[in-house]
Amino acid sequence: MGAVSEDEGAELVSAYAIEAEREAEATLRPRRLSEFIAQHRVREQLDLLLQGAMRRGAPPEHILLSGAPGLGKTTLAMIVAAELGAGLRITSGPAIERSGDLAAVLTSLSTGDVLFIDEIHRIARPAEELLYSAMEDFRVDVVVGKGPGATAIPLDVEPFTLVGATTRSGLLTGPMRDRFGFVGHLDFYEPSELDVLLHRSARILGVALTDDGATEIAGRSRGTPRIANRLLRRVRDFAEVRADGIVNTVNAQAALRVYDVDDLGLDRLDRAVLTALVRSFGGGPVGLSTLAVAVGEQPDTVEEVCEPFLVRAGLLARTPRGRVATAGAWRHLGLTPPDRLALTNLLGQGPAGRPDTMGNGATPVPDLFTQDP
Ligand SMILES: Nc1ncnc2c1ncn2[C@@H]1O[C@H](COP(=O)(O)OP(=O)(O)OP(=O)(O)O)[C@@H](O)[C@H]1O
Ligand SMILES: [Mg+2]
Repeated sequence: MGAVSEDEGAELVSAYAIEAEREAEATLRPRRLSEFIAQHRVREQLDLLLQGAMRRGAPPEHILLSGAPGLGKTTLAMIVAAELGAGLRITSGPAIERSGDLAAVLTSLSTGDVLFIDEIHRIARPAEELLYSAMEDFRVDVVVGKGPGATAIPLDVEPFTLVGATTRSGLLTGPMRDRFGFVGHLDFYEPSELDVLLHRSARILGVALTDDGATEIAGRSRGTPRIANRLLRRVRDFAEVRADGIVNTVNAQAALRVYDVDDLGLDRLDRAVLTALVRSFGGGPVGLSTLAVAVGEQPDTVEEVCEPFLVRAGLLARTPRGRVATAGAWRHLGLTPPDRLALTNLLGQGPAGRPDTMGNGATPVPDLFTQDP
């Protein structure tokens, strides 16, 4: 007991879903719109859309939900069905390989059902075209046979509502996007919102959580509910095994030290990247592959796993000449930034040097050549 495996440590602040967590997540999923924390704009808009449709007694228009992993897209899709009192069918873009698979799902829907397609940007092209006519005219043409003898058999689809979710709305084709009557974008959460979320989760899990304990965890959760809930479970373990069972600041700090999650929510690899950048390369600019070698990782891992949050937190900038550590990065490592970074200090990192972790505001240093989703 006591040892934390590398894997656990590595996954702790990942925003991606982990298979083993499926059940734990389901327990904490809000079932109704009124239980869904924060995201006020999307909530209000959805509420109007759903209420309007119910008044008219017709299914609402198709709904697209976009946003980074772990922000609540699947949760909202389920809520849509629950609020409508409708049946829910769940599938995902990668699961629909052939248009026939999709036709089978579509033609088996009952009137008013909600069809949730996760990762809808990954749907195969022929299936996507079939989906267009289903979305627009509630009709699909199923092609039977091959070559010159092939015939299209039109089949009716009951009126339904498609809820699509995507982490990469930029990858959706224009025609696809145009067929959604409502597009809701989920933003990262503020620490104060995660505070509320953590108290809700603690209530459900029966965990004693103090206000300062919630604040401590919220600040390290990278603006992401999935991470906040995960950190809460890990701190609970620690509090129960090594302390008095109460999730307070002291226990949260001690637990997250064990798990190598620092006060901004960076894990060991994130910090290794910043440390290499600052200590070995004088803060950069340095190329991605060189930086990756320095931390003993694949360039892909550094680019896709570490960098998005480091950029969002205003700690690292991607420039045409390579990766650069911002003044905030130097300070986060307890170092004094070189004079040449004085300018970035003035550009909004504030005297305390705490970067805008949640990244809802602008990143202090512009991202010059990579576009993040
Ligand atoms: N607004 C919220 N209020 C309360 N809990 C939330 C909220 N948003 C997300 N959660 C919780 O966070 C977890 C992850 O949410 P969800 O699975 O909906 O994310 P997602 O956007 O679908 O992620 P992915 O892109 O990986 O599919 C869920 O267990 C859910 O309970
Ligand atoms: Mg999801």
